[in-house]
Amino acid sequence: ALEAETASIVAKFDYTEEDVNKGVKEFLRQMGEGLEKDGTSMSQIPTYVTAVPNGTEKGLYMAVDLGGTNFRVCSILLNGDTTFSLTYSKVAIPKELMVAKTAEELFAFLAKQIEVFLQTHHEEHFANARDASSEEHFFRLGFTFSFPVQQLGINKGTLIRWTKGFDIPDAIGKDVCALLQTEIDKLKLPVKVAALVNDTVGTLMARSYSSPGKAGAVLGAIFGTGTNGAYVEKLANLKKPLSGEYDKSTGEMVINTEWGSFDNQLNVLPNTPWDIALDKASVNPGIQMYEKRVSGMFLGEILRLALLDLVKNDKVSFFRDENSSSNDWKSTTTIAPESSIYKQWGLDTSIMSVAAADNTPELSTLRQELDSHLHVYSPAIDDAQAFKAIAGAIGRRSARLSAVAIAAIVLQTGGLSTATEEEPIDIGVDGSLVEHYPYFRDMIYEALRVIDGVGEEGAKRIRIGIAKDGSGVGAALIALVAAGMEKSKS
Ligand code: BG6
Ligand code: GLC
Repeated sequence: ALEAETASIVAKFDYTEEDVNKGVKEFLRQMGEGLEKDGTSMSQIPTYVTAVPNGTEKGLYMAVDLGGTNFRVCSILLNGDTTFSLTYSKVAIPKELMVAKTAEELFAFLAKQIEVFLQTHHEEHFANARDASSEEHFFRLGFTFSFPVQQLGINKGTLIRWTKGFDIPDAIGKDVCALLQTEIDKLKLPVKVAALVNDTVGTLMARSYSSPGKAGAVLGAIFGTGTNGAYVEKLANLKKPLSGEYDKSTGEMVINTEWGSFDNQLNVLPNTPWDIALDKASVNPGIQMYEKRVSGMFLGEILRLALLDLVKNDKVSFFRDENSSSNDWKSTTTIAPESSIYKQWGLDTSIMSVAAADNTPELSTLRQELDSHLHVYSPAIDDAQAFKAIAGAIGRRSARLSAVAIAAIVLQTGGLSTATEEEPIDIGVDGSLVEHYPYFRDMIYEALRVIDGVGEEGAKRIRIGIAKDGSGVGAALIALVAAGMEKSKS
């Protein structure tokens, strides 16, 4: 009975070849819509970044990065030969700051981390710059802020909405660079916020710096806590009016798609009972509907909700062994009342990686994990198998949905016809999901091969490479461009 119930849950996460192709068509349509007007579900935000680096850039820069699992502060020495050295520190964002009353509380915390970093890693430079009377000696800092921002200039942009569980209404509509600079100035740090970038834009820049092919990377994508992509678009296709100044000479601009909100209207996205339940209980119902089916923050919760139904299902005894006559709970599967299965967000997506990686017949690693982390004591092999099957189906659907976005961007940029296996279309990716979930990229490729306009041959001409720590380096690269702009103005 457990097998049949499991199979019926697994089937609900099927995302077929036909679905994938329908998804790509709709993705292309919604991308086009976002290039034409404001207020569409995919924001298609112009970044004012009009060129990607070529690896010859040089200098010492700082970057901070807010919006993934950790807040990071780094300094980056670009060597000018496609290499760089990175010094960084990271801290988890205290949960209470994600829903702070005021923006000031969050940004004061960030500024404090910058101070600690400078004291620890750049004591001398820090002291000299602090004493210098001119801002010329200040560190130029690139701010990676991984939320939807209306970009008004290279270091100016207002927050459109929070995503990924952050919720500080006070910050919405405010310039996040100014919020950070104010707190930096309160601490009298010799730091100037020179550039504001989304993590996807940073990832795209970093990938282009490190592995400059003929044309650089065309897409930077994050599959982590959240998901999003930034790509290089032809200015001619960008129909909505732009307010800021930019260099028109390249004929291109990087666009931050904010694809997490692809198809909020659910024209083509799959919608199981558990997707519906997750969305309803989230801080932003109806928003980020694609992200809620793809990214790391949500997959564990979808799984938890599906498992909970199985626990409650009278037809099966899942995670409990009622037929057993033994009084010794250690020898039977028992789910403890304090199990995180019963708590919203209780299931971390990382356990899905454990499940996917455990291919032993006894599933011993997974069962150990269920026992120690989920408080499902002595889980039976059958139960662990059901867990693995459902988790795998959710992970696979996520990867196939990811392929939809990647294929649509590849088709939009039109590079497949000229790309070859030796000079493929280059895509930089980062984030805990693509980095740690076993076979995630393989499952993306498997889906790419069945997409009309890509196919077996096309998939060979697409290279998806990890751009590890990309956004820090990327933010530094944009701070460098910004520094150049400052000079040419004065
Ligand atoms: C990091 C980048 O490597 O990956 C961040 O520096 C990015 O900018 C993050 O947001 C995404 O991954 P996760 O899993 O932390 O959301
Ligand atoms: C969310 C944010 C987006 C970010 C992505 C990945 O979708 O809205 O700006 O790029 O997460 O971190």
